[in-house]
Amino acid sequence: MTATFKPMTLELETERLYLSLWKDSDASWYRELVAERGKGMPTMATARENIAILRNRATENGIALLTIRRRDEGDYIGYCGLIIGRSTLEEPEVAYELFQRVHGNGYATEAATEIVNAAVATGRHKLWSTVRAWNAPSFRVLEKLGFERHHSTWDESGEIVWSVREL
Ligand SMILES: CC(C)(COP(=O)(O)OP(=O)(O)OC[C@H]1O[C@@H](n2cnc3c(N)ncnc32)[C@H](O)[C@@H]1OP(=O)(O)O)[C@@H](O)C(=O)NCCC(=O)NCCS
Repeated sequence: MTATFKPMTLELETERLYLSLWKDSDASWYRELVAERGKGMPTMATARENIAILRNRATENGIALLTIRRRDEGDYIGYCGLIIGRSTLEEPEVAYELFQRVHGNGYATEAATEIVNAAVATGRHKLWSTVRAWNAPSFRVLEKLGFERHHSTWDESGEIVWSVREL
């Protein structure tokens, strides 16, 4: 039998941040965020397609990545949320990606803390995260969120560390 979960809340607020579902108008900053990965900037059309996919997944799965906007500055600084990723709908992954210019201010931790709370509210009991072994900042965020390292898997790019958080 498949467990049933409440849909995740798609509008969240923290002390410094608003988290919301993607809009078409997010395409321009989303392209710049992807470009920071160092493998080129997607076209506007591709960015819009990706955003449409993210919105459809939110409707289909009841979990989502949400955009992060700073309340005071009003600027978009990245995204954070739940995805199936390498895991499952029952025990999804937490994911986050922020612009380099805002790293080190506690924003990922602040946003992801609210996402963990939103996951609890859906009725879920466990979250995962899969992170490349070299990604120290991401491990630190997970540690601050109460995740524990669980096991590793490997693909063509190397080690992937799975961390788990019981809710
Ligand atoms: C991972 C990421 C989202 C963190 O965002 P952030 O807003 O800077 O995170 P926070 O400020 O909440 O926390 C970062 C923590 O990592 C620590 N940190 C940063 N660089 C570090 C390093 N090289 N080694 C160890 N810790 C490090 C910071 O000091 C901070 O911990 P502290 O609060 O104890 O000082 C951001 O680095 C990012 O977007 N990276 C690129 C995308 C990515 O890797 N996403 C995750 C894929 S699994």
